[in-house]
Amino acid sequence: MGYVRLSCADNVLTRDIVLQKFRSIDWSNFYDDQLLFYTRPGGLLETRQIFADLITEFTLGGHNLKNPINPDHLAVVSGTTMILDLLGQVLFDEDDVLIAHSPFYHRFWNDFSDRGLVDIRDVPTFRPGSTDVVLDLQLYKDVYHKAVGEGRKVKAILLVNPSNPDGGYFGLDEIKPIVDWAVKEHNLFVVLDEIYDLSVYDPLEGNPFESAIRLFDNDPSLDRDKLIWMSGVSKNFSLPGLRTAVMYTPNLKVLNATKRFLMYQGPNATTEFIIREIIGDKTWVRDAFLPEAWQRLKKARDNTIAFLQKLKKVSGKDLRWIKPRAGFFIMIDFSEFLPAKTFAEEKNLQTKFVENNVLIVRGHSLSMNIPGWFRIVFSCRHWEEIEEGLRRMSTALGYHVD
Ligand SMILES: Cc1ncc(COP(=O)(O)O)c(C=O)c1O
Repeated sequence: MGYVRLSCADNVLTRDIVLQKFRSIDWSNFYDDQLLFYTRPGGLLETRQIFADLITEFTLGGHNLKNPINPDHLAVVSGTTMILDLLGQVLFDEDDVLIAHSPFYHRFWNDFSDRGLVDIRDVPTFRPGSTDVVLDLQLYKDVYHKAVGEGRKVKAILLVNPSNPDGGYFGLDEIKPIVDWAVKEHNLFVVLDEIYDLSVYDPLEGNPFESAIRLFDNDPSLDRDKLIWMSGVSKNFSLPGLRTAVMYTPNLKVLNATKRFLMYQGPNATTEFIIREIIGDKTWVRDAFLPEAWQRLKKARDNTIAFLQKLKKVSGKDLRWIKPRAGFFIMIDFSEFLPAKTFAEEKNLQTKFVENNVLIVRGHSLSMNIPGWFRIVFSCRHWEEIEEGLRRMSTALGYHVD
């Protein structure tokens, strides 16, 4: 019996639609000479134009922008991981500080610090006994002053929206005070990782997801040179196999410094072509792909929650979770199942999950401040396998769920 891996943020739910699109690519559109010459670091103009159109129509909902997305302010890179790694080197000197809200995607430690040697300080968004996820400006201020008091230079804040691991999103009214404080009071860069921007499958009524690019567009007193935004195809289009992302910044110094590194991390012309053929077909994106992708993600989320409700009933425990609305995952609080509410007991529980052949990520790996939380990915397999993983998880907790 192998492992059921519910730990990696992949999405196979749209496999058929994506593969059909991939197989229908018209290769007569490919300019063969691109095979023979080195491509331009930062992406060909036609690729950047397609990303600019995608951001304008889908990320920004076609709103009239005072500052339209200029393809010359974009760089095409081989994944957001690589963008974060490059920013670690472009924006920071060794031991400079990045402030990030936590819990956060576990790889940020590697992305910013393996080579950039960045010191990430976290601002918790979870509170004991609550499932609300809150951005608290006072906590940002506390973290900032502590770092400065230690003689550190704080260079940037990182905002991930929609958020990994809880699958929720912050409204612009929640983000604006943080961005205003960061830019207007401390001249910090605002790094926006919006890699799940087109993966919002269950928006809150009257409060849809909005890109924080709009804050910079709406408020002329916000220095646009502090805006660095990114998204990519790994999540929204379930194409990590084509690992391509785009960075947008009106700050040409940051853009050009980043582009200097793209001899090392740029995609090749053939990858760019395939990306253009897929995401450049806006009719397909709008009418065929996104509505179906959202419907399937919502169904997988609902199936997972229905399973958790059964586990809650069978166990009689106060099992809690955060209802996700975006992305591929759900955060669950298993603290009621721990003999003591400690990270050591959380680790013991993870060991039990592994012994029962199911792999899920524990909160500690996500820089979570409260023990007992785990993240489960519900889109990385088809439902029968996800359900099998959830059954094994229940067995590890000591319960049988049909
Ligand atoms: C929040 C977040 N940022 C970045 C990445 C990395 O994406 P990419 O495949 O573009 O490197 C992930 C992948 O899980 C993620 O969840």
